[in-house]
Amino acid sequence: MKKAIFILLAAIISISLTIIAINTGNAQSDIPVVDISNYPQEAKEGYKIFSQKCIKCHSAAKPLNAPYSGEAWKTTVYRMMRKEGSFLTQKEADKIYAFLVQYSSSRKPAQAVETKGLSLIDAGKKVYQQRGCAACHIVAGVGGKVGPDLTSIGRNRDSGFLYKWLKNPRAVKPAAIMPNLNLTDKEIKPLVEYLTSLK
Ligand code: HEC
Ligand code: HEC
Repeated sequence: MKKAIFILLAAIISISLTIIAINTGNAQSDIPVVDISNYPQEAKEGYKIFSQKCIKCHSAAKPLNAPYSGEAWKTTVYRMMRKEGSFLTQKEADKIYAFLVQYSSSRKPAQAVETKGLSLIDAGKKVYQQRGCAACHIVAGVGGKVGPDLTSIGRNRDSGFLYKWLKNPRAVKPAAIMPNLNLTDKEIKPLVEYLTSLK
């Protein structure tokens, strides 16, 4: 009887390991090719480490398509470094940071969100979708869980707070996890209108 349980456990473990191996394989196959030939040395090294270590838990597309540039990368890179199982040293994280700053600066600048003809609230909703807020926030059950649920944010926060927060979270809360997304006033205005409408 004991032996049967042991065999069953062994089978479950080996199946799980196979699934993990398959998943890792998939993540590896979609490393996008980035032309790093003109990058500074530190960023080149960073790309190498990035393509080995930032794809362990999700695909490389997650960071490469994230809407950050410059300093905004800091919080995310060091937050990932602290995740259990990242096996990243401070030095490696510094190099990955250098790579991501370089990568995002040589990428085409984000297109201004087209909001012509929309009401302020609808324009704000569009900015919310296109600036990647849903990666970290839930509205009405949809989105990520890194930040607080914003489904009824309009009940808890006024437009003055929201404006300051979106302009630069760390000016409000020095240890904020939310990166400064470098939103323009043209984006913040409808966004605040949208958020205060969520009640
Ligand atoms: C140990 C697992 C793990 C490793 C390694 C890892 N990540 Fe993540 N990453 C996650 C998880 C889990 C999430 C989703 C939850 C969250 O954001 O905390 C995530 C989310 C993200 C996001 C979207 C959220 C945000 O902050 O914008 C980005 C971008 C990101 N990772 C970049 C990276 C980079 C760059 C690296 C390499 C330095 C990396 N990840 C390595 C687990 C990992
Ligand atoms: C990488 C994850 C991430 C992204 C992207 C992000 N946020 Fe956040 N946000 C957070 C976290 C985490 C907090 C909690 C405070 C902190 O930063 O420590 C927060 C807090 C907030 C708050 C304050 C909530 C309160 O009541 O204190 C608002 C409002 C907000 N975010 C709106 C947005 C909007 C709008 C966007 C898109 C333009 C956005 N966030 C993008 C992670 C994120």
